[in-house]
Amino acid sequence: MARIINSSQEKYLDSFISSNDNLLRNIEEYAEKNKVPILAKQTANLLEQLIVMMKPQRVLEIGTAIGYSSIRIARLLGKNSTFHTIEKSSENVKLATENIKKASLQNKIKIIEGDALRIMPQMKKKYDFIFLDADKEDYKILFDYSMLLLKKGGVIFIDNLLWHGYVAAKNVPAKYKNSTKHIKDFNRVFMMQPGLRSVILPVGDGVGIGVKVL
Ligand SMILES: C[S@@+](CC[C@H](N)C(=O)[O-])C[C@H]1O[C@@H](n2cnc3c(N)ncnc32)[C@H](O)[C@@H]1O
Repeated sequence: MARIINSSQEKYLDSFISSNDNLLRNIEEYAEKNKVPILAKQTANLLEQLIVMMKPQRVLEIGTAIGYSSIRIARLLGKNSTFHTIEKSSENVKLATENIKKASLQNKIKIIEGDALRIMPQMKKKYDFIFLDADKEDYKILFDYSMLLLKKGGVIFIDNLLWHGYVAAKNVPAKYKNSTKHIKDFNRVFMMQPGLRSVILPVGDGVGIGVKVL
């Protein structure tokens, strides 16, 4: 798969990230071995940086997988904050629950099992930070729901917007053609969304950060 930055630059940047956290390291190893997509290290770092800067009270994640990013976010949240994460795969929910328990964060993280496409329209209370990391073909509709659930001044953080570089590639492998089209269509919507100040950064697999200004 193509990289946004070359592997030596990536290695150099990753060398600054200490990895003496056994639980996170085990989850990273499990994810790599079992091909579970989790946040790239640099993306996780940026996400954590924003959480520290913003100190959000209410956070929503769409796409828990095995709890890696949930743990990284929840560890940085204040005592009275709320963290909800939606996951549709029951197998992933089971693994995430185990990992979250190992991190002693079971009282801080609430996993909502089910399809976000069905769950989000029923949610009423707004969030100050939303992290969208689900199936790429669902991004547009999940983004629309997220906009309704995001407070004014709130931030949305979206992963994979450069999609291994394919969004800007002349030749896209057949296997990625469909998903690439979804991301390219989505990026136009994201960058032109009224009331949202949006930027896409070449970090990890491409990160979209939007601030709701209206
Ligand atoms: C890229 S992984 C999430 C990785 C995780 N955020 C991390 O960095 O550790 C995407 C996850 O989203 C889940 N997912 C995809 N579409 C979903 C949807 N519509 N509703 C709920 N979960 C969804 C998938 O089952 C998968 O576990």
